[in-house]
Amino acid sequence: MKLLLTGGAGYIGSHTCIELLNLDIDVVVIDNLSNSSYHSLERVQSITDKNITFIEGDVRDKELLRSIFRQGDIDGVIHFAGLKAVGESNEIPLQYYDNNLNSTITLLQIMEEYDCRNFIFSSSATVYGNPEKLPITEDFPLSVTNPYGRTKLMNEDILRDFYKVKNNWNIVLLRYFNPVGAHPSGLIGEDPNGIPNNLLPYITQVAVGKLGKLNIFGDDYDTPDGTGIRDYIHVVDLAKGHAAALQKLKIGSGLNIFNLGTGRGYSVLEMVDTFSKVNNLKIDYQIVSRREGDIASCYADPSKANKELNWKAIYGLEDICRDAWNWQSNNPNGYKKTR
Ligand code: NAD
Ligand code: WQD
Repeated sequence: MKLLLTGGAGYIGSHTCIELLNLDIDVVVIDNLSNSSYHSLERVQSITDKNITFIEGDVRDKELLRSIFRQGDIDGVIHFAGLKAVGESNEIPLQYYDNNLNSTITLLQIMEEYDCRNFIFSSSATVYGNPEKLPITEDFPLSVTNPYGRTKLMNEDILRDFYKVKNNWNIVLLRYFNPVGAHPSGLIGEDPNGIPNNLLPYITQVAVGKLGKLNIFGDDYDTPDGTGIRDYIHVVDLAKGHAAALQKLKIGSGLNIFNLGTGRGYSVLEMVDTFSKVNNLKIDYQIVSRREGDIASCYADPSKANKELNWKAIYGLEDICRDAWNWQSNNPNGYKKTR
């Protein structure tokens, strides 16, 4: 089997490469390196002792995509490529809509031309908005509050509309909860540009001395300790979720949606405490006001993926904190930014 991974040099894509290569799947990556480095793939190759075909370029480039499909028997696509920062999406919405929507549309058009009908899409728990109850199942109502989230929901809608008329396709929408942690080797991990937006990379950068103290966005939520609760999923578990989703591609056509989460939520303070204990480090923090757009609690009901994909997250919060620190402490500046 040969798969094309768009955005495969990025955080989740690079971890997924490892899982696929370990299953002897041939991996072709297209990435414009706008938010990643080729070093991630070099390290994936050294971890697995297998080769990846890498094409540097943009998924919206039709001719480039045609050249990829023309060359090889691509059996399916995992579409990770996209811009992903919620705050930034409010600043540059057109770039988000252009990148995140046109990449999907272009891919689907070229896949059609080459009769490739297997498509896995990186969606997000952000499409559930502020859920009325918990845990979240896949049939919950969908709503979004920012351009990034809207691109995810619009992509889902595009894929649902497309499938209505192309029901010989096989489409899987994977709704990730909060991906965190790093490969246990410490060789690949999350390498955000600038100041991290997300909690765990912020904590690891405080721990390594790059940032002064953590700002905790609100302690007055309706949660046991007042701080926000999220479903943090180890990126290796998430990567294995993609390998598990391939089963759906093998059993005929369909459009399937799965939550990829652990089913358990942890608060910001629980994350800080666990990180400190596991790594024997003190994390300075202060409570500041809530971040606009944040919700109190969000965690998955992952039982559909457990049953239908035979997939379950196995790593716990301690593993997450250990592996995130292992990556950050061994790579204080992430990947070298040049190729
Ligand atoms: P990432 O930024 O590390 O990876 C995305 C990759 O896509 C990067 O390597 C980037 O260079 C590439 N890319 C972006 N636009 C491109 C384009 N037009 N052509 C080619 N390459 C392009 O992000 P990630 O955390 O690995 O996320 C992967 C996917 O999962 C994204 O679609 C993201 O929206 C989604 N997702 C991420 C999270 C999260 O918290 N990390 C949560 C839910 C969903
Ligand atoms: C987690 C908790 C914050 C940073 C985002 C996107 C979502 C998805 C995953 C892509 C919250 C608190 C955070 C900090 C803090 N991405 N926090 N101080 O907001 O759940 O989800 O990433 O699809 O779409 O919205 O993740 O890691 O930013 O925040 O107190 O410096 O940590 O308030 O409770 P979030 P996060």
